[in-house]
Amino acid sequence: MKILILGGDGYLGWPQALHFSTQGHDVFIVDSLMRRDFDAQNNFDSLIPLQPLEQRVGAWKEKTGRKINFAIGDTRDYPLLSKVMWDFQPEAIVHFAEQRTAPYSMIDREHAVFTMDNNVIGTLNVLYAIKDSCPESHLVKLGTMGEYGTPNIDIEEGFIEVTHKGRKDRLPYPKAPSSFYHLSKVHDSHNIMFACKVWGLRATDLNQGVVYGIETRQTSMDPRLATRFDYDQIYGTVLNRFCAEAVIGYPLTVYGRGGQTRGYINIQDTMSCVDLAVTHPAPCGEYRVFNQFTETFSVGQLALIAKACGEKLGLNVRIEHLDNPRVESEGHYYRAANTSLLKLGLQPHLLEDTVLVSIMKKAMEFSGRIDKNLLAPSVNWRRTKNSLSA
Ligand SMILES: NC(=O)c1ccc[n+]([C@@H]2O[C@H](COP(=O)([O-])OP(=O)(O)OC[C@H]3O[C@@H](n4cnc5c(N)ncnc54)[C@H](O)[C@@H]3O)[C@@H](O)[C@H]2O)c1
Repeated sequence: MKILILGGDGYLGWPQALHFSTQGHDVFIVDSLMRRDFDAQNNFDSLIPLQPLEQRVGAWKEKTGRKINFAIGDTRDYPLLSKVMWDFQPEAIVHFAEQRTAPYSMIDREHAVFTMDNNVIGTLNVLYAIKDSCPESHLVKLGTMGEYGTPNIDIEEGFIEVTHKGRKDRLPYPKAPSSFYHLSKVHDSHNIMFACKVWGLRATDLNQGVVYGIETRQTSMDPRLATRFDYDQIYGTVLNRFCAEAVIGYPLTVYGRGGQTRGYINIQDTMSCVDLAVTHPAPCGEYRVFNQFTETFSVGQLALIAKACGEKLGLNVRIEHLDNPRVESEGHYYRAANTSLLKLGLQPHLLEDTVLVSIMKKAMEFSGRIDKNLLAPSVNWRRTKNSLSA
């Protein structure tokens, strides 16, 4: 297949490009490099050193003989985006290309506006470019489980049967997100659903849980193929961040009571889920939603698991409960459906000691690169003035 990967230089997009290339698909990457630019401007960095995109792609060709083409460009640059789609004629478009964190979107007005503009307008452009250049192609869009929030009823996959005053309907599941980032994903979902209805496009919205892990079969082939390991307060997802904290003797930073429960997924399963969505496309005119996570944990449970694992490695691990900078429930009901991808054949890699040990060992290897100043949360959801530094 011809597969276009938007955001193919990122944490997930890069290993996904390698995954599809291994299978013989023709892969084309578009990335604005906004993520690398953010790091350069704010003195952030991936814990594992990253090669520039051109060198990564060169290393892949050298190792495997397979070519991945790419263009540096922004989804908000419509002429560029539509030209890539028109020339490449992808059968599937996997869309990772968004500003992807809640804390970033809550820094201040500028960062909230950037998040909305980058994500919502970027995705609207993607929809128009598909309609105008390759209307049969299947959009696989990365959304988030955070779109649903933490309702006091079971979360379904995108839609819910409702009976109201004696009448029944199947309606989009109500959304109650908890940041401007998550709201941008909700707006995307509505725009994608609408485009499928009016233009007959086909799309799969993958409501993904929090991802952990840093290696896939392909990225571990050569250090030049590594994907990013974010451990900081803005981009570091919780388990990867705990591993970095554990190895330098910094307390595991649990926000509030730690009862916040979410869906989690191993990076290797992200690769498989996207693959399953691409190889089992939605029919034309259909907008479907898959919940993409394999297990649920509370933040407090994860901290205990990380502590036990660190101690097995001889580390002295402490847990510290910080005032929660976010406005969120710290003890709540959480049960979400995730059967669609399992039915398509997903075989989950669950969180085991071995996975955590391998993340911690990687963090130990590069522990000299950990900047402690990037760990404590400095972005507050409330009416305070925020800055990026801790
Ligand atoms: N990492 C997670 O735990 C997680 C969880 C749920 C959902 N997701 C979603 O998965 C997707 C990928 O996440 P990630 O962790 O790989 O993020 P990432 O920041 O590492 O990668 C995103 C990539 O997209 C690029 N990009 C951003 N805006 C762009 C634009 N307008 N045009 C072109 N390129 C652009 C960035 O430069 C970056 O390389 C995101 O949409 C994110 O919201 C991630």
